[in-house]
Amino acid sequence: MNLITYNFEDSKFYGNYFPLLNNALDKIIALINEYSEKAVKAGKRDPIEHIKSRIKSSSSTKAKLLKRCIEPSAVNAITAIHDAAGLRVVCTFVDDVYDLAKSFRSSTDIKVIMEKDYIKNPKPNGYRSYHVIIGINEGGIVIPVEIQLRSVAMDCWAALEHQIKYKRDIKHEELIESELKKCAEYLAIMDTNLQVIRDILE
Ligand code: GTP
Ligand code: MG
Repeated sequence: MNLITYNFEDSKFYGNYFPLLNNALDKIIALINEYSEKAVKAGKRDPIEHIKSRIKSSSSTKAKLLKRCIEPSAVNAITAIHDAAGLRVVCTFVDDVYDLAKSFRSSTDIKVIMEKDYIKNPKPNGYRSYHVIIGINEGGIVIPVEIQLRSVAMDCWAALEHQIKYKRDIKHEELIESELKKCAEYLAIMDTNLQVIRDILE
């Protein structure tokens, strides 16, 4: 469920950066909605299934900074890590992911800082997604935002894998991991096949 629950601790920790993080997320969501509407107005299908956004909880941000031996402060949450503000964009097909990433590169409103292609180079556990770190100017301060772009199939796998990982005391862990990886590979084949079916129909 996309329930965003910011508590007093979060807004206290981020202080003046909290509205900047929110604004940065709102601007990117508006850009993606525009991109979607443009496609629909041109008589094409909407390439975006849904968008989720979040500001990283202050407890996760503090833990991440401390793990890297960095003082847990709001300014370090903006300068030393890049996912205090995060977006997940679920696209219909894999090529929609690449087209959207391309649109970020050609946008004058945002600056692409880093791209990680876990679709061409999946993680060893089978994780696939296209990650883009962008910088967005908020009153002279560059706010980094991590955007995870995925197909529906990739999102399905990541959500299930995330749930399973949180289950404690996994028996037959190696077997579970190899089965999860197999599922990721089946889904990648399905993604390719669905695209072929779409192309035939179009
Ligand atoms: P963190 O993992 O956030 O510390 O940052 P990083 O710089 O190592 O970036 P990375 O690209 O590895 O992952 C960033 C985010 O992608 C994570 O916070 C997750 O939301 C997602 N992600 C990465 N790997 C996995 C994975 O194996 N499974 C799932 N479900 N999500 C993943
Ligand atoms: Mg990581």
